[in-house]
Amino acid sequence: MRHLPLHLPLTFWIFLCNSAGAQRVTNVSPKYGSLNGGTRLTIAGQGFAQANQFNLNSNDPNFGNSVTLVSRTRSIPCDVERDSSHSAQIMCYTRAMPEDDYEVRVSVDGVAIPSSMICNGNQWSYWCMFYSRSVRTPTIQSIRPLSGPPGTVVTLRGRIFTDVYGSNTDKSSNGLDVRFLRTYMGGMTCELLKPNSDEKYGLYLDSDTSQMGYMSCRMTGTYIGHHNLSYILDSDYGRSLPDFGVFSISAVNQIAMFQTYAEVTGVSPSDGSMLGGTLLTIQGNYFDETDQPARVLVGGQECQIKSVMNEGIVCVTPAYERTNMTVFPGEELI
Ligand SMILES: *[C@@H]1O[C@H](CO)[C@@H](O)[C@H](O)[C@H]1NC(C)=O
Ligand SMILES: *[C@@H]1O[C@H](CO)[C@@H](O)[C@H](O)[C@H]1NC(C)=O
Repeated sequence: MRHLPLHLPLTFWIFLCNSAGAQRVTNVSPKYGSLNGGTRLTIAGQGFAQANQFNLNSNDPNFGNSVTLVSRTRSIPCDVERDSSHSAQIMCYTRAMPEDDYEVRVSVDGVAIPSSMICNGNQWSYWCMFYSRSVRTPTIQSIRPLSGPPGTVVTLRGRIFTDVYGSNTDKSSNGLDVRFLRTYMGGMTCELLKPNSDEKYGLYLDSDTSQMGYMSCRMTGTYIGHHNLSYILDSDYGRSLPDFGVFSISAVNQIAMFQTYAEVTGVSPSDGSMLGGTLLTIQGNYFDETDQPARVLVGGQECQIKSVMNEGIVCVTPAYERTNMTVFPGEELI
């Protein structure tokens, strides 16, 4: 039986790391990703800054590791995830980048690792490249509905690639090794799972040979206004890219995919002759004034707001006589 000379390689490694001071990049993975960013790259090498090294100076852009993806015609930063980076590994998230072939460049404390140390100086070597590709870009072709109160379940159609959500390692039913990581409506999470359960609102591919399908999620938050939907797939995909046709232009000239509105559940007093100066209470949900102050129109005229709370608005009716009325709180919909 042979004894492996274990101590030898170990000594050799220690020697290498100490003597080197050598900073080098040896590999980038995954190789492919979305045109709209959100692909998490792992860059392997040595001599990178340690995570704890730059906590003190986290505002100094020259401190720690920085990554740039460089093609023959453009150069795009990759946003470093400091907590997951150490001397032999950097993780970074790609930004939106046109379809192209990019070589990785790393700077440590503001000093670029020379190109002779990137894949041993073999420029455009496959192992130090990242390729943004439209065929790896998730899409959003349409959304239903286009508006609703906060908490609405929305369904998108697009090239979603996978019917798996979450951190398990299951493969999609079409055989692809990719999963949904996160979905956002505006700045807030859009939940794929029903509360306290493993049941999804809906995540389907058209067939087990298709990349097209439907994903449903429930909006969180109480913001009233305009929202864009986006989602991120793991592995060699990334952030979704919406088709142009998925946007609408609202009455206030905002471009967005979805609009939330307040719900009116009741108005009191609800009948009778309305003389000016009557106190009117409007009950409902999500009377949010983040973007615009609430407005109430009675018979086309402004009802003077006395108070706005999440579940009720009190206003004084205008000096205007009429035997019927219509109430429109908040923004009007397109
Ligand atoms: C939604 O996305 C479009 C296109 O990127 C952008 O012009 C618009 O301002 C966004 N709307 C919101 C509410 O973020
Ligand atoms: C409200 O009253 C106006 C006339 O004062 C009338 O034209 C209109 O049809 C009425 N609307 C309703 C909903 O009753």
